[in-house]
This record gives sequence, structure tokens and C-alpha cells, in this order.
Amino acid sequence: MTLSKEITWHQALVTKQERREKLGHHSFVIWFTGLSGSGKSTLANEISRSLFDEGILNYVLDGDNIRHGLNKDLHFSEEDRKENIRRIGETSKLLVDAGVAVITAFISPYEEDRKLVRSLLEMNEFIEVFVDCSLSECENRDPKGLYEKARNGKIKDFTGVDAPYEKPLNPEIKVDTERESINQSVKKILKYLKNKNMI
Ligand code: ADX
Repeated sequence: MTLSKEITWHQALVTKQERREKLGHHSFVIWFTGLSGSGKSTLANEISRSLFDEGILNYVLDGDNIRHGLNKDLHFSEEDRKENIRRIGETSKLLVDAGVAVITAFISPYEEDRKLVRSLLEMNEFIEVFVDCSLSECENRDPKGLYEKARNGKIKDFTGVDAPYEKPLNPEIKVDTERESINQSVKKILKYLKNKNMI
């Protein structure tokens, strides 16, 4: 869909910068990407807890949760995943404009879709975190029993089984949940944010 000529942008009276000053911190998106079962939601929530405790207003957007509401009309075709990520990219942008630190946990398997989200935001507003974990380890964990269902043909288009996952080429951060503890990965991410003066 293209934008109608009859729609114009209405400038906000309160700016993003003013909101940031009021809240006393930067606003940005920490974008977790990785296979199902790699640890995205766990890390997203641990980071959320740490930021909250440091007085940073933040919000987690999680694939499974968002698909219960805002995106419940979407399934797992390439087209629907694209739309899923596009909507979350736009939602993240709104929240960043509102001054919030956004933490997302979506498989987001396609490089092109992640690139689109990056392009919606400014340079210092998008931090891509690749949650690296081998398919065999994710299958071992299988916290929701979905890999088993996918292997038995009960679910189609399952990422890693019969749908692709494109690893990020240049993520800002990579964590390895097969070899690092949750605590180590959390520390790595917080250190990055501190070094970049984001928190
Ligand atoms: S994404 O590919 O569009 O980014 P998203 O993160 O929203 O996916 O949702 C992934 C979650 O949906 C998985 O963690 C899993 O619990 C569930 N799921 C159900 N069916 C599938 C499927 N075919 N492929 C991947 N995940 C699925």
C-alpha cells in the first residue's frame, strides 16, 4: 500500500529530545534475533529488569505475546513474517519517539526485514543482538515442544526445520547462549550500552 496524497504529517508539540531530557535517558531499540529456543525472550526480560532497576523506562515486545494481540492475524509465511517485523519496527519507532527503551524478541529470520527496521531508526537507536545457538541445541531445549511437532510434520514452515534463518552479517552484539551463561550475555549487552553512553 502506498501513502495517499491526502494524508499529511502533523508535527508534534513535544519532541523526542524533550521526552528524553524529562526521562533522563536515551531511547533506543535492542533488537534480539535468533532461532526459536535460542534465549531471546529470557535475555530480553533480564535486560528489561536491569534497565528498569537502573531507572530506565523500557518495554519488551515479544513475538509470542504480540502474536496474541496486535499481530494475531499473521502466520508464518515469508510474507506474514515480513509484515510482523514491519509492524514491530514501526511500533518500536513510536516507542523510541515516546522516549522508551524498546527490547524486542522476534526470530526475525530475514536480513532484509531487519534492515528495514534499522532504516526506520537513527544510527544510535538500533542495536541488533544476534542470539547465536545451534539448531541442535535449540532442538534439545525445545521448551515449547515445537521442534518435535515440526519434525513430525505437525507444523509447517518452522524456522530451522523447513523455513530459513539468515544469520545477521553485522550485528552490533553477538551472544552465544550455548557457551555463555545468561548472566554473561546480559553483562555483555549492558557493557555495550554503557560504552556507547546509551545508559
Ligand atoms: S518471526 O519469524 O515472525 O519473527 P516470531 O518471533 O514472531 O517469528 O514468532 C516466533 C514464535 O512463534 C516461536 O518462538 C514459536 O514459539 C512460535 N511458532 C509457531 N509456529 C512457528 C513457525 N512455523 N516458525 C517459527 N516459530 C513458530
